[in-house]
Amino acid sequence: MTSANEIKYSFPEGFWWGSAASATQTEGAADVDGKGKNIWDYWYEIEPNRFFDGVGPANTSQFYYKYKEDIKLMKEIGHNSFRMSISWSRLIPKGTGEVNPKAIEFYNNVINEFINNGIEPFVGLFHFDMPMELQKIGGWESREVVAAYEAFAKTCFELFGDRVKKWFTHNEPIVPVEGGYLYDFHYPNVVDFKKAVQVGYHTMLSSAKAIKAYRELKQDGKIGIVLNLTPSYPRSQNPADIKASVIADAFFNRSFLDPSVKGEFPQELLQILKEEGLMPVIEDGDLDIIKNNTVDILGVNYYQPRRVKAKENLPNPEAPFLPERFFDNYVMPGRKMNPHRGWEIYEKGIYDILINLKENYGNIECFISENGMGVEGEEKFRDENGIIQDDYRIEFIREHLKWVSKAIEEGSNVKGYHLWTFMDNWSWTNAYKNRYGFVSVNLNKDGERTIKKSGHWFKTVSDNNGF
Ligand code: BG6
Repeated sequence: MTSANEIKYSFPEGFWWGSAASATQTEGAADVDGKGKNIWDYWYEIEPNRFFDGVGPANTSQFYYKYKEDIKLMKEIGHNSFRMSISWSRLIPKGTGEVNPKAIEFYNNVINEFINNGIEPFVGLFHFDMPMELQKIGGWESREVVAAYEAFAKTCFELFGDRVKKWFTHNEPIVPVEGGYLYDFHYPNVVDFKKAVQVGYHTMLSSAKAIKAYRELKQDGKIGIVLNLTPSYPRSQNPADIKASVIADAFFNRSFLDPSVKGEFPQELLQILKEEGLMPVIEDGDLDIIKNNTVDILGVNYYQPRRVKAKENLPNPEAPFLPERFFDNYVMPGRKMNPHRGWEIYEKGIYDILINLKENYGNIECFISENGMGVEGEEKFRDENGIIQDDYRIEFIREHLKWVSKAIEEGSNVKGYHLWTFMDNWSWTNAYKNRYGFVSVNLNKDGERTIKKSGHWFKTVSDNNGF
């Protein structure tokens, strides 16, 4: 174990060390104890070929059954906090109406187990998992679904808010917009920018409405949102490249960041939407709700940067409208890659985000809510003692933490670091291809858990509050 005088990077007292996961990716028991179907259950039923190796969401990592063992392991590897999500279709199987007593029991047990083990549960309300009954009426395209979500959020606050003191309305809300309505990697697989804008707008409105409902209950906790902030770096300082990066930033980061923290949408985005006739339907009073219900705390997910350049060619005017009408993605020569996920690794990006929040977003209280490295075929790194020697993950985390530490020195209000993820889990259409966990899950041995080298290392970091 590292001794205190060897600590080069130490973190503020009470720093949140932990990890994050989501209900659909970990619970399994997808058709058990009254859970309703969500879009993932349904999509897998009709198109199993879309999922890596044809593996669906039915069983995932069995947290539903093994939560006690898992929470014990979290404690063992130094967690003082953990972000989970509540499955909407488990709690309210049809999305509205009747609440499932078995789900209340399950989430009560889980929350209590966390607290009894000294791990603070951070709870998310929506992590890509729209109840299927609500998708049938349009999902986030529909105003009715915004109302249903607000009711679901309120139910969660009332049931669990006495013990849960950190809530998150959405996880990466731009992703269902991209996946479901632009780039065809989430159900309902629509490619339609106008609908995408409406979906994004309704999601944002639902977040503000949930925040309003939370504050009205006066529960004495904090409520925020988790955003995947992907810094947009221009290829060069040429004005055309810079303009491309400003627009990419407005579409993919500021679209949710500005209204969540500042209560208003970025002008650059509004201008394009107006010029293109793509503004969403906004009802009277909506914008006031958004303005007056900004977040207390921001979760920052960071995996990769976005590099862009001015367009090389004129877009086909007949083609579906996509944000890429305004920029091309730039493949920087010599970039460092995680080849398994196809994502660039650029550690300084995490610092750039934190400094941007400090300088342009009132230094809002925040934490790194996801960061991590998915690797395929990790079994080959298992040693004779059965431990996966994932030194690459340790290096990945360490290099990012160094930049977090530098941001703290410069005054960033960042309060913690959560890895994606605690144990290997089901990664949407990538299923179990890439493994992200501190703990491995052996799917051939009833999901047997084994702590990886990174999990043991993380324990020392958490114990020393640094490394
Ligand atoms: C984030 C999500 O996008 O990144 C997680 O919040 C997801 O749900 C994680 O699993 C890693 O991405 P992927 O696509 O490799 O699973």
